[in-house]
Amino acid sequence: MCGIVAYVGQKEAYPIILKGLKRLEYRGYDSAGVALLDEKGLNVYKKQGKVAELEEHLIGKALPAHIGIGHTRWATHGEPSDRNAHPHMSKSGKLAMIHNGIIENYAQLKQDLIKKGYVFKSDTDTEVLLNFIEDIWINNNCELEEAVRIALKRVVGAYVIVLLDADQPDTLIAARKGSPLVIGIGKGEHFLASDASPIIEYTKEVVYVNDYELAILKPDELILKNLGNEKITPFVQKLDMELAAIEKGGFDHFMIKEIFEQSETIYDCLRGRLDAEKGTIKMSGVENNMERFIHAQRIIMVACGTSWHAGLVAEYIFEELCRIPVEVEYASEFRYRNPVIHKGDIIMAISQSGETADTLVAIEKAKEQGAIIFGILNVVGSSIARASHAGAYTHAGPEIGVASTKAFTAQLTVLTMVALRIAIEKKTITHDRYMHLLNELHEVPAKVEATLKLSESIKAVAAKYADAKDMLYLGRGYNFPVALEGALKLKEISYIHAEGYPAAEMKHGPIALVDETLPVVFVATKDSYHEKIVSNMQEIKARKGKVIAVITEGDEVITGLADDVIAIPEADELIAPIISVIPMQLLAYYIGVLKGYDVDKPRNLAKSVTVE
Ligand code: M6R
Repeated sequence: MCGIVAYVGQKEAYPIILKGLKRLEYRGYDSAGVALLDEKGLNVYKKQGKVAELEEHLIGKALPAHIGIGHTRWATHGEPSDRNAHPHMSKSGKLAMIHNGIIENYAQLKQDLIKKGYVFKSDTDTEVLLNFIEDIWINNNCELEEAVRIALKRVVGAYVIVLLDADQPDTLIAARKGSPLVIGIGKGEHFLASDASPIIEYTKEVVYVNDYELAILKPDELILKNLGNEKITPFVQKLDMELAAIEKGGFDHFMIKEIFEQSETIYDCLRGRLDAEKGTIKMSGVENNMERFIHAQRIIMVACGTSWHAGLVAEYIFEELCRIPVEVEYASEFRYRNPVIHKGDIIMAISQSGETADTLVAIEKAKEQGAIIFGILNVVGSSIARASHAGAYTHAGPEIGVASTKAFTAQLTVLTMVALRIAIEKKTITHDRYMHLLNELHEVPAKVEATLKLSESIKAVAAKYADAKDMLYLGRGYNFPVALEGALKLKEISYIHAEGYPAAEMKHGPIALVDETLPVVFVATKDSYHEKIVSNMQEIKARKGKVIAVITEGDEVITGLADDVIAIPEADELIAPIISVIPMQLLAYYIGVLKGYDVDKPRNLAKSVTVE
């Protein structure tokens, strides 16, 4: 939520910051701004709307600064507007600040500052924090970094802040708690950003800042301290990411690029781990914790959104293969109730970004109660990765489209491998079934490739139903969470109201919605529920609903029944969701595009939800 970029060095800061903001726009895009400090002073430029509007606004302006900060916003406190956009200026006009996060006790701080004569120009918690820092700075007559430290000890909430002081033209001060912050180390220059994408073309040397750390950056110097003013040795890491991975590569949108990458990302996820011929799965995170898994009384999957849907599929898989009871929890609910957690319970935190605030806090809470945290994560070095005891990365590469696609199929692939690795060790699966499923997994990239070839026919189906007001998505068993995911994708991208339901549950209420105007998407590949779902389809047809069915190639029964069919390669029912979700993604994508929406940046959403 909100993207931040900052630069100090020898180059012109504005082009670097602008490019960085465009890369971080997936994190929020309702307004954008920069603060630049040059010989003539500190200037702030900000605009409601996307980064392109800020760029437009600044065309032709001389912006020679070599130090600056930039922000792309996802509104929390205060509507999207020019005045609520970041950076904010302090009362004295000497400080500019950007912020990603939420200051929960801002109302009290604001009251205290108003009593002291402060007047606020925006509705944001950020302006309050900035003036709180300035107030401490002036009253204590101390260094700015000292004022930041004092202020942050009194602040409740989450933040990454970056400050620019008009009197320190070579220094940036940044701090983090609960939101991500990466420092890029160049030659005579430093970069700061919410993730590595704005940094990658300048340097591969990075430092991930931890919670309660403060960074003081000059062109040739990086000082890291804790809030107790003790110096910390920066842990410099090499970025394992290429520039091409964060560019569109000839596709119209990141979403479609990422959908089409899936045969490759799933292959990358399997590579080096699965050997179908030898019958082995190598996953050190699982092997190092095998005793814990074998004796686990329970696994709790904690996640949000699409990652939560991956957890639901995993519930079916783990219970079937490993005979371990599984619960799947919305992180946002789990963190606020008083869940019963036993020592030795395994919490699987599933997250693409590894920064989702609800998931992060939920696992910290579970950790305090003795649970083991196993992360299923895409972003290496992310906050959840660092808070986990062990885990397995999904290796899907950067996912930039706000609607999650390739991360989901990679999560399913990793979760299936984890379950199989435990099941063979625990002897809850027969050798034949194990070998069969390994082969099935091995064949997934090719089957995904074949499914992607259906994109033109799926586009035609999309054109037929793009004007629908509502849609229903139904599935059973392993395909039930796929129906939920299909409905979520459609809602996000096309703003069509959609509901996902277990197909059999439909008769307990949603069937009342069915008439000749309601398209119903069935995820109905060949599995042990096949005959049952055909009956559910009959029930919809009998009420004149329109049926779009994702089926297994060669399924004559459903072909004769449905209005439109999308036939995908046959796969074991346990593996099928990795393939059957792809038509869901394509359908939502094409409907969104046909309706003229910005599918990579759907309204009101952000890629990383780092606020609760
Ligand atoms: O980064 P995470 O996997 O933790 O994100 C969880 C959700 O915010 C995310 O899946 C969201 O629902 C997507 N927009 C779905 O497409």
